[in-house]
Amino acid sequence: MSVLVLGGAGYIGSHAVYQLIDKGETVVIVDNLETGQRQAIHPDAAFYEGDIRDIDFLRSVFEKEPIEEVIHFAANSLVGESMKNPLKYYNNNVYGTQVLLQTMIEHDVKKIVFSSTAAVYGEPESTPITEAMPTLPTSTYGETKRIMEKLMKRTDEAYGVNYVSLRYFNVAGARETAEIGEDHCPETHLVPIILQTALGQRSHITIFGDDYNTPDGTCIRDYVHVEDLIDAHLAALDYLRDGGQSDVFNLGSSQGFSVKEMIDAARSVTGKEIPAKIGARRDGDPSILIAGSDKAKQVLDWKPARTSVAKIIEDAWKWHSSHPNGYRKEVST
Ligand code: UFG
Repeated sequence: MSVLVLGGAGYIGSHAVYQLIDKGETVVIVDNLETGQRQAIHPDAAFYEGDIRDIDFLRSVFEKEPIEEVIHFAANSLVGESMKNPLKYYNNNVYGTQVLLQTMIEHDVKKIVFSSTAAVYGEPESTPITEAMPTLPTSTYGETKRIMEKLMKRTDEAYGVNYVSLRYFNVAGARETAEIGEDHCPETHLVPIILQTALGQRSHITIFGDDYNTPDGTCIRDYVHVEDLIDAHLAALDYLRDGGQSDVFNLGSSQGFSVKEMIDAARSVTGKEIPAKIGARRDGDPSILIAGSDKAKQVLDWKPARTSVAKIIEDAWKWHSSHPNGYRKEVST
């Protein structure tokens, strides 16, 4: 029996595949390699290169492989891009999920763990953000993820496909042994940009605004280690296997760190200067996003173990310093 990981060549999906294989699971990966990396594919996984919107392709994978459960990471996930190109997000994220659910129903596959986002909440009325709070996404990206959740809810009601939707806060870090890590092109995320600056690949990092209503004026986010995040996916899979009902969980560390605090933490871990300049605010950035993750701890028995920012940055630094060009082979200049 196999677990199908859609988007298993991406940053978060590849970490899921490695942990599943560590636990003795048989894994099938589908990825169109639009943002995924061939080098991130675990050598022991069966890999099918293709697009989840292509129903004939997806059906052929379900016909060849004994798939029992699905973990769905295959989506576009950049807030800024989603505002400029909303139809790309509706097409790949929403339509792609519709095709996936139809294929699952046809093949009687009734369990799915889904990669959702804190962006479904939009600008929160208070923190910490709990799952009971209203979902009012401010970006197309967040809206498509919310619609994907609704698609799964209706599909569950009609066909009994059980789902767990995991709403991620800020995911960072890398596998401790550093075979895989974070490599986006273009890079927009804070931790990799800080570490690229530590490596001298950028002259400085621009802090997007220091006039927010926070103690040091910079935005506060809740950073969760990618390996802890994946632990929650494995716990969600066990929950569904044990007959758990469809549900939604936040995944964060429930601790907030400002952009300046993250840069300072990276200076301590790397011993590098990491020059920083203050720039303008980035459109759409809420000032504070902190998760209430008690529900995942209680219901899924999720036990995040790598909760310090130092550990997140240490593991990310192992990856970045040993792979200065990410998955590309050339030596850094
Ligand atoms: N930041 C900078 N300079 C940079 C990059 C980021 O100051 O060069 C700041 C941002 O303004 C923000 C913080 O660092 O305050 C974190 O930014 P990221 O881009 O790393 O992450 P976001 O909080 O914007 O986004 C993350 C996920 C999204 C998800 C969102 C949910 O990456 O996929 O959380 O709110 F939608």
